[in-house]
Amino acid sequence: MAKPPKIVAMPTAAPLHQELSEKLAGLIRAGTFPAGSRFPSIRHTSREHRVSISTVMEAYRHLEDEGFIEARPRSGYFVAPPKITADRFPTTATRASKPLKVGSIIEAIMDTAGDPAFVPFATAAPGDGIVPESKLAGITREVMRKHGAEALRYTPPQGRRELRAALSRRLFDIGLKVAPDEIITTQGATEGLLLALRATTKAGDLVAVESPAYFGTLNLVRDLGLRVIEIPVDPRTGLVVEALATALKKHAIAACIVQPHFQNPLGSVMPESNKKALAALADKHGFTIIEDDVYGDLSHDGVRPPSIAIHSDRVIHCGSVSKTIAPGLRVGWLVPGAHLAEIRRLKGIQCPWNGTLSELVIAGFLDAGGYDRHLRRIRGLYAGQCAQTREAVLRHFPDYARVNRPAGGFVLWVEMPAGFDSQAFTQAALKKGISLSPGTIFSASGGLNHCFRLSCGFAFGERTLEAIATLGKLAPHHRS
Ligand SMILES: Cc1ncc(COP(=O)(O)O)c(C=O)c1O
Repeated sequence: MAKPPKIVAMPTAAPLHQELSEKLAGLIRAGTFPAGSRFPSIRHTSREHRVSISTVMEAYRHLEDEGFIEARPRSGYFVAPPKITADRFPTTATRASKPLKVGSIIEAIMDTAGDPAFVPFATAAPGDGIVPESKLAGITREVMRKHGAEALRYTPPQGRRELRAALSRRLFDIGLKVAPDEIITTQGATEGLLLALRATTKAGDLVAVESPAYFGTLNLVRDLGLRVIEIPVDPRTGLVVEALATALKKHAIAACIVQPHFQNPLGSVMPESNKKALAALADKHGFTIIEDDVYGDLSHDGVRPPSIAIHSDRVIHCGSVSKTIAPGLRVGWLVPGAHLAEIRRLKGIQCPWNGTLSELVIAGFLDAGGYDRHLRRIRGLYAGQCAQTREAVLRHFPDYARVNRPAGGFVLWVEMPAGFDSQAFTQAALKKGISLSPGTIFSASGGLNHCFRLSCGFAFGERTLEAIATLGKLAPHHRS
């Protein structure tokens, strides 16, 4: 005889009002409804969530009791100011308290970008005094007056012609003779680098990368399934071309990604003779040089070095305004050379539209907005900020700490003795409200843990000085 079915008790669901109040509390914690803002009315929530008025009223009563919202007579509900508790603030430092993998360290420090709770040594970006805010506001108004709704429509995939024309005039000054139609605009240099890699490599290919290298490039290379060979970078003269020449005797590479000018993180600049030697290697061995030149306009002595492309046709040149004008506008470009048709095709698939308004504003700034004057001003500021931060590090760190002297750009690379753990140091610093970048993220092989990078893109002041003093105290004062 078949067994009678077993009757099991169903787990009792939380009452509807409790479920709703938990969901709404979660949204308040996550910042969907910020402190002081108007909270949706009872009627609105009832309609949108398809629950009765009395369920919403019950949920709101609970949120009031818990201090999430407050009722104001005749005005409705408002989000109450947050109760600062140890487990809510700061979120990034809490998240970073366990040992982290490279990917999650990058995410944790990227999350601190723009967060005023952190002294932002991790973010290689221009600070408030560098970004020409009022100038850009003026140009934006002018662009809107002149172009109206057109400034808010899609761009053609290759980018706005006004920007490509302005870029073609500026690129002429660094030795690139390219017509506007030979330039493709991108969402920052990151997209340019991705397109250059996609056009010149396939998964499994070998590419030469710098050591140390910009971590964003290493992320792209990893994500595309490429194999890498690390080529050392000299703190003064950049990529060690002889080391690449030696590697090429044994290995064929598809591309070499290099920052010839004011390298991130070392601040080095390749002499012309080295750039020429690198170009000759590319011609001889048939690989592409992907030139990442985002810091090229930022020499501290005012001299702008020319592109490697003056020495070879095998160069894809990538740039952006992220370090010179404003990273949030996401305006970048690339000069694909022989890969123009393929990169235009890839761009049309990957991300066909850029920000039309951003492109028109940057075109206006480059052409008639005083970009050269702006550059002269910020080169001096960046040089001063680097010098002040460097001096503070030398004063507050143990005397075995070595700090580079960048020829341009605005990042410092600090080298500690072998055994120093920059990842643990970064986590300790985040807990003190200071962000910085551990050396490991600049290495394709996970080395360089005894180094770290400090960005000096923002004005140096009391807060910065105090932060460096705090970091100096966190560093071990005896050699391990
Ligand atoms: C060397 C280098 N290349 C590229 C980028 C990315 O630039 P963008 O913000 O224009 O994508 C950065 C940003 O930190 C960088 O340092």
